[in-house]
Amino acid sequence: MDTYYIDGQFVSDDKSFISAKDIIVLRGFGVFDFLITYRKRPFHLEEHVGRLENSAKQIGLELRHTNSEICEIVRETVSRNPRHTESAIRMVYTGGISSDGLTPDGRGILMVMVTQKPDLPPHLYTQGAKVITVDAGRFLPAAKSTCYLSAVHATLAAKRQGAVEALYVDRDDRILEGATTNFFCFIGGRLVTPPRDVLSGVTRSVVIELVKDLYEVEARDVRMSEAGHMQEAFITASNKEVMPVVGVDDLQIGNGRVGERVRKIMQAFRDYTNSYGLGESGLSLPATSV
Ligand SMILES: Cc1ncc(COP(=O)(O)O)c(C=O)c1O
Repeated sequence: MDTYYIDGQFVSDDKSFISAKDIIVLRGFGVFDFLITYRKRPFHLEEHVGRLENSAKQIGLELRHTNSEICEIVRETVSRNPRHTESAIRMVYTGGISSDGLTPDGRGILMVMVTQKPDLPPHLYTQGAKVITVDAGRFLPAAKSTCYLSAVHATLAAKRQGAVEALYVDRDDRILEGATTNFFCFIGGRLVTPPRDVLSGVTRSVVIELVKDLYEVEARDVRMSEAGHMQEAFITASNKEVMPVVGVDDLQIGNGRVGERVRKIMQAFRDYTNSYGLGESGLSLPATSV
């Protein structure tokens, strides 16, 4: 049994209940964030809580906890789950019970759910992953709101097609981000990543900081029509880290194998997370990356 923090109490996961009247249930109104631990140290916790705060601001939800209070609750919840070798941490802030059942009254609650971090199949990193594209996107893309209908829908489509992720492509043919990942590719020797209408991924920011002296990083719109020119590609997320992409829909990226540059970036990220887990402080990330 895992121990969760629900609105001021530490409870076992099977006793984690919230009100059916909370507008997170009725309207999907709430925010969340997700991170993992390295050697039990939550990875860039302050930044993830900062993003939770920003998500709340974007959707108009008032938080009743400060950044440091939430960080402290997260650390305490992790320490109450000592059986996990590494933890996956989900913070959720609900809209709360509302007098009109629609708009928030400032009574939201905080939940911190900590589970054993699952491992992903190693072949996705050695052979690379396939992704699909979907004609979809997210409302208020800078916010990680609990309104993830498009992500659930897109990920179901990816699963049906044997892919690990679905990339949102908008009406202007722009590849924005994955359902739960950010997207990078090498075009003409430059590392390109979409800068706007996406979630500011913490993994994305870390990768940019780690490789900015190795490669020229270009934050610009990427169009699906450029896919034929992509030499290498990868997606990033807290649970996937740096995952090479060797196919988009029916198109092969580069020679269809994990490229040298992506391998190097995966290694740089691994080295960084190893030292982070050893308690060596860590990069200070820009509020908004390049
Ligand atoms: C839409 C979206 N983009 C990108 C990411 C990756 O963000 P991070 O690297 O902070 O996990 C996520 C995370 O779940 C996401 O939901």
